[in-house]
Amino acid sequence: MDYVKKTFFGRRKGKGMSKAKEDLLSTRMKDFEIILPTKGKIDFFKLFDFTPKKVIFEIGYGDGEHIVNMALKNPDIAFIGTEVFMNGNASILRKIIDNNIKNIRIFPDDVNLLFPFIPSGVFDTIFVLYPDPWPKNRNEERRMINKNNVKLFADFLKSDGNLFVASDHPVYIPWVLFVMQNQDSFTWTALKSSDFTNPPKDWETTRYEQKAIAENRKPIYLNFVKK
Ligand SMILES: C[S@@+](CC[C@H](N)C(=O)[O-])C[C@H]1O[C@@H](n2cnc3c(N)ncnc32)[C@H](O)[C@@H]1O
Repeated sequence: MDYVKKTFFGRRKGKGMSKAKEDLLSTRMKDFEIILPTKGKIDFFKLFDFTPKKVIFEIGYGDGEHIVNMALKNPDIAFIGTEVFMNGNASILRKIIDNNIKNIRIFPDDVNLLFPFIPSGVFDTIFVLYPDPWPKNRNEERRMINKNNVKLFADFLKSDGNLFVASDHPVYIPWVLFVMQNQDSFTWTALKSSDFTNPPKDWETTRYEQKAIAENRKPIYLNFVKK
């Protein structure tokens, strides 16, 4: 497997982080944080005090609305999330604690650091919701959906598992379709336009999605199933 060695993130903490958020991160993150092993892969099933029916992965959860609401609705499923910015990590931590959520574990850093430790065939679904678009051509390598990551995602997913991408961005949507047309591990599930213009049944929205809708940008929902 090809893992990216360098990561792109300098300052991961916003300048204006409150003392309350700082305290929350320093006292409670340890209860939910995924620690990278010194050797081998992570056994995601062992991170929970129940036997999960499925494991679902969300990359770049922002403030965590989607993963938290999914976890609340599905207590028998384990949710693994990553977010590189610490304000978002403080927000999700608050939600996890306030709702007494037992089925989320988080990797509060760049997902590229986690990739080498993810076993094959472990996830049922990978969500990449409103990824940063990096619209300039010279920044294509920074986009979360790229040729190399799609190979990794295919490895991490069970067969028939889903890679689900949502975006409202006029450069990113065709980019995803271009990348996915040029690989042979996944099939796009859409049969008609409403399959990608409407959110799936039981959809949990995100903060970014609400902002996009309020600003008259149209979200697109792209679901790919592993062959
Ligand atoms: C546009 S925001 C969308 C956030 C959220 N998914 C939503 O829909 O509200 C993209 C998020 O991806 C996170 N992100 C970008 N690259 C990442 C990486 N390599 N590892 C973890 N998180 C990342 C960013 O910090 C940001 O919070």
